[in-house]
Amino acid sequence: MHVLFFLLLASAWQQVIADSDSDSCKSSTTISSQSDADSLADCDSLEGSITFSSSASGSIVFNNITEIKGSFTAQGASSVTEISAPDVTGISSALTIDNMSSLTKLSMASLSKVESGITITNNKNLKSLEFQNLEEVDGQLDLTGYFTSVLLPSLDQVDGSTTIKGKSPMSCTALNALRSSDVFRGSYSCSVDGGGSSLSAGAKAGIAIGVIIVVILLLLAVWYVLRQRRQRQPRRRRTFQTDPPSPEIALGSEKLLEPEHKSSPPKESPVKERELQVPRKPIGPPPALLDGRSIYEAAYPASPIPVYHELDAGPVSGSHQRPIHSET
Ligand SMILES: *[C@@H]1O[C@H](CO)[C@@H](O)[C@H](O)[C@H]1NC(C)=O
Ligand SMILES: *[C@@H]1O[C@H](CO)[C@@H](O)[C@H](O)[C@H]1NC(C)=O
Repeated sequence: MHVLFFLLLASAWQQVIADSDSDSCKSSTTISSQSDADSLADCDSLEGSITFSSSASGSIVFNNITEIKGSFTAQGASSVTEISAPDVTGISSALTIDNMSSLTKLSMASLSKVESGITITNNKNLKSLEFQNLEEVDGQLDLTGYFTSVLLPSLDQVDGSTTIKGKSPMSCTALNALRSSDVFRGSYSCSVDGGGSSLSAGAKAGIAIGVIIVVILLLLAVWYVLRQRRQRQPRRRRTFQTDPPSPEIALGSEKLLEPEHKSSPPKESPVKERELQVPRKPIGPPPALLDGRSIYEAAYPASPIPVYHELDAGPVSGSHQRPIHSET
């Protein structure tokens, strides 16, 4: 009698386990209608992914599921107006809601952790987004679209890059505040079309580096121009100083009289001729000329440079010492 009772109990228990662990909870599911979503209502945890068929329409509600051990993807299902999964707390892969042109409401009030990225993009009619309990995203967070309100009051950690873009009444203030408490581990940007925008730290650093590079280039340009000018100046002065008077100008009248002698050297000025052929070193001021280490050729030997000698008159009392002008 007792044995029979226990056998009945055991078989009943087995039945319960089999029910709660039905096949539909162990495979990925494509959602075309609410009845597909209802077939998962027995599952506490779904060992697979949920993907929306493009033919799905209307409002789709996922009851009872608390854990999706796969991804949740709704893409291009243009007739779906509402997606609700009130009990789901975790998604083991990515959450993607993209190009859902009729979607007006997305509600996952219990969701606290997504182990890959969240991508909610290009949903024309999805104006307001709220993840009341979302704390952790182990991937990117991309919320780009037509949002006028994005609320992530519990957000604590985003490991990937964060991009949030919305429309005018949306405010980045609350999200920017999260940034200062080190929630966003990757890059962060939040911008509002038709309103102010907030640059990411990366963008600010990029602008700063750009400005520094421009300033350095400007300084280099100024330095180069100044250097060029300084190099040109002494060269111009030197050629001006050493250029001897041109024989053509000096003998202009003679050439007019005898045009056939154009190429032959003028015979009247052999000194000038020699001067032209001897290569010249630049001539500095007189003190430099007298420096023993470097000897320069005098400019015009015909006109000697006056040199003053001081003669020592010996131990003569009185003021007899005076410079004597001598010609050498
Ligand atoms: C949700 O699960 C409860 C038991 O936990 C069950 O009674 C209920 O019928 C389920 N909901 C749906 C819609 O199947
Ligand atoms: C969006 O979805 C529609 C149909 O649902 C499709 O025709 C269109 O190509 C999709 N657009 C993009 C950018 O994926």
